[in-house]
Amino acid sequence: MSQQSFDIVVFGATSFVGQILSRYLLETVGVDEEVRWAIAGRSEGKLLNLKTDLGMAAENLTILTADAGDEASLRALCEQTRVVISTVGPYALYGEPLVKVCTELGTDYCDLTGEVQWIRQMIETYEDQAKASGARIVHCCGFDSIPSDMGVYFLQQQAKQTFGSTCTQVKMRVRTAKGEFSGGTVASLMNVAKEAASNPALRKELANPFSLCPPKHRSTARQPNVKSAEFDPDFDVWLAPFVMAAINTRIVHRSNALQGATYGREFLYDEAMMTGKGMKGRLAAYGITAAMGGFLVASAVKPTRYVLERFVVPKPGEGPSDDAQKKGFYDLRFIGKTAKGQSIRTKVTGDMDPGYGSTGKMLGQAVLCLALDVSKTDKAGGFWTPSSIFGDHLLERLRAHSGLTFELQEQR
Ligand SMILES: NC(=O)c1ccc[n+]([C@@H]2O[C@H](COP(=O)([O-])OP(=O)(O)OC[C@H]3O[C@@H](n4cnc5c(N)ncnc54)[C@H](OP(=O)(O)O)[C@@H]3O)[C@@H](O)[C@H]2O)c1
Repeated sequence: MSQQSFDIVVFGATSFVGQILSRYLLETVGVDEEVRWAIAGRSEGKLLNLKTDLGMAAENLTILTADAGDEASLRALCEQTRVVISTVGPYALYGEPLVKVCTELGTDYCDLTGEVQWIRQMIETYEDQAKASGARIVHCCGFDSIPSDMGVYFLQQQAKQTFGSTCTQVKMRVRTAKGEFSGGTVASLMNVAKEAASNPALRKELANPFSLCPPKHRSTARQPNVKSAEFDPDFDVWLAPFVMAAINTRIVHRSNALQGATYGREFLYDEAMMTGKGMKGRLAAYGITAAMGGFLVASAVKPTRYVLERFVVPKPGEGPSDDAQKKGFYDLRFIGKTAKGQSIRTKVTGDMDPGYGSTGKMLGQAVLCLALDVSKTDKAGGFWTPSSIFGDHLLERLRAHSGLTFELQEQR
C-alpha cells in the first residue's frame, strides 16, 4: 500500500466528461475496493451535487477541492494520490500548473487534451523534471488520440506477425461516426483557431507533423495530408479532411519515435474522412471541406467568434444527452503497406459517440492502466503516448471494458 490516500483523483469531475468518467469508474471499480479514488474540482457545492447524482453507491466517495490556477491547492491534491486525471480544459488556458506540480512531485497524470501546441510546450518545459521525479504524463487519452494511436499499434502488431515487418505507410479513414461536440471541446478548438490567427509561428508549428517528436527523431519523408476533397484509390472513395488528424497524426509519430522508430524512420501516416463513392461522395467531400474552413475562419475572427459562442455552439458544461451518447458510434478503417508491397487492412469500432460516451470509457481504462498495470520500473518518468506506455494492457482493457473492437480484416 502506497503512502498516498488515493490511487486516482479525478480533477474536473464536474465537467461534462468528468461526470461521465466518474459514473463509469463508480460502475467499474466501485469505491475503495480494488482502487481508492476521489473526485476533485474547484467548487465543493458542485462536487456535492455530483456525488448526490451518482447515488448511494457513491456514499463513501471523497471530495477534494483545488483550483487549476492555485499551485498550493494543486500540490495538496497531488500529495494525496498516485495518479491524477484531469478533465479541466481548455488545457492551454488552465492546464499548466497541474502538469508542473505533477512533474515536481512525481505524480502520474493523464488527460484528454488534443491541443498540440500546449502539449509541445509542456514537453519542452517539464520533460526533464518528469524524468527526474518519475512522473509519467500521458496526454490525449480520449477519442483523440486512443483509437488512432492504438489502431496503428494493433495494425503494426498484426503486420509483424504476418509479414515479419511493420508497415512503412498507414492510412486511417473514418468510415462512419455519429456524435456531437460538447462545449468544452468546441471551446478548445476555437481557442486554437483564435491563437493561430494572430501567431504565424504557431501556424507553422501546427503544420509540422513531427512537432511532438523528440528532436533526435529526424524524418525526411513528406507526409501525406488530406487538406481538401480528394479521391482515395485504396478504399475507392472520396475523402474530406478529418478535424482530429492534426492531433492524432502527431501522437502516432511520437509513439513511433518513443518506441525506437519501430514503424520505420520514414514512416508515413495520414487520416481523412470517407464521404462515399461517385458524384455524391465527391460533392460531400467538397461540402465538408468548405464547412470546416468556414468554422475555423469564423472562430479566428472576433465578431463571428462572438456570434458562434453566443448563439451557435454549446456552452462549456453542455454536451450530448445520454440517449445521443448511446446512439453514437464510430467505424475507423486502416490500411498498412510494407516496404515490399504487402498490405493489411484493419478496423477499429466504438459502441458509443466518440467524444463523450466512448471517450469516458477509454479515459477510464487509460487511468486504470496507469494506476494498476504499468509500474514505474517498467515505464519510467517522462511524457508518453497511450500506445507507447500502455501497449497490450490498454488494448485488452479497451476490448474488454470500453466497447472498442480491433479487428484484422485482410492481409496480402
Ligand atoms: N480528447 C477527446 O476526445 C475529448 C473529448 C471530450 C472533451 N475533451 C476535452 O476535455 C476538456 C473538458 O471537456 P468538457 O466538455 O467536459 O468541459 P466542460 O464541461 O466545459 O468543463 C470544464 C471543467 O473545467 C473546470 N474548471 C474551469 N476552470 C477551473 C479552475 N480554475 N479550477 C478548477 N476547475 C476549473 C470546470 O469547473 P466547474 O464545473 O466548477 O465550472 C469544469 O469542470 C476540454 O478541454 C475538451 O476539449 C477532449
